Amino acid sequence: MSCKEDKQAPSDDLKLRRDRFRAEVLSGLRKSQKELPSKYFYDEQGSRLFEHICALDEYYIPRTEAVIMETHIEEIIERLGPNVLLIEYGSGNCAKTRILLSHLREPAAYMPIDISQEQLLCTTRELAADYHGLEIIPVCADYTSDFELPVLKRPSARRVVYFPGSTIGNFDTIPAKHFLEHIAGVCGPSGGLLIGVDLKKDPDVLHYAYNDRQGVTAAFNLNLLERINRELNCDFQLEWFEHYAFYNPREGRVEMHLVSLRDQTVHLDGMTIPFAKSESIWTESSYKFSLDDFQQMAAGVGFKVERIWTDERQWFAIQYLVNTAGATL
Ligand code: AVI
Repeated sequence: MSCKEDKQAPSDDLKLRRDRFRAEVLSGLRKSQKELPSKYFYDEQGSRLFEHICALDEYYIPRTEAVIMETHIEEIIERLGPNVLLIEYGSGNCAKTRILLSHLREPAAYMPIDISQEQLLCTTRELAADYHGLEIIPVCADYTSDFELPVLKRPSARRVVYFPGSTIGNFDTIPAKHFLEHIAGVCGPSGGLLIGVDLKKDPDVLHYAYNDRQGVTAAFNLNLLERINRELNCDFQLEWFEHYAFYNPREGRVEMHLVSLRDQTVHLDGMTIPFAKSESIWTESSYKFSLDDFQQMAAGVGFKVERIWTDERQWFAIQYLVNTAGATL
């Protein structure tokens, strides 16, 4: 496995990652609107909590996406064609991937890319046991930064990036465009992108999806502070912060925050960080799109939306985009 995030990696590498984490936390907490990058939610405990979120009644995304996938799998496979190299960004829970892999026609290879080596090993082991003969090439990397694709044993007809779960919604507008641009580079001219996109809907549905009754999303949000305490030797008092999530209709996004319940100070790396009562740390944005919004953003980086599949309620869309770069229009 090609791995930049290996547990056995030289301590220099681990130190580098820890230093980057510390620098990003410090820079976020120094801003006037304090913020923390949502990519740091997913340590071992955070990934477990996210799996629990995915099974909640209120969190409709994974179920809705799976139904769309199952209903339209033949057409989806038709678009991908034979001899495809399927590159999945974030190998997380592989239920939807299995639907794809079970139907693909003579795939060239499957390349899951994930920052968590454990998750990758687990996915690769399980899939290799069930899909004999399929070349699986796990790549351990932070897919938001540049990384090199390993060389395949045999050439593919085309590269298709698979990015499910509406994770694109966790990028702000400009980084989302840059990220789509990066994907266009990875899949190359006439390559494709199969992407899950969460759609705008009744704000009440969104509210409950991010404020579940069991408090799992709250625990997921607070776990970020616990991780900072553990890994960066910080002293957040978790009981003095509260999960707060709401839909912001003007911006078309759900915002997650952690609100300070009192005036307090936190210490990190010799720095004292003051919090006023009611001040928040912004921990995540989850953008919801209209089909037009998304089409425009994709067109801006050379992707043409070729096909859209949605559910009956039009809550979620799976879209197949083709990179038109280099094409004669
Ligand atoms: C991973 N991502 C698409 C999830 C979302 O809905 O934005 C993360 C999440 N945050 C709270 N619940 C789920």
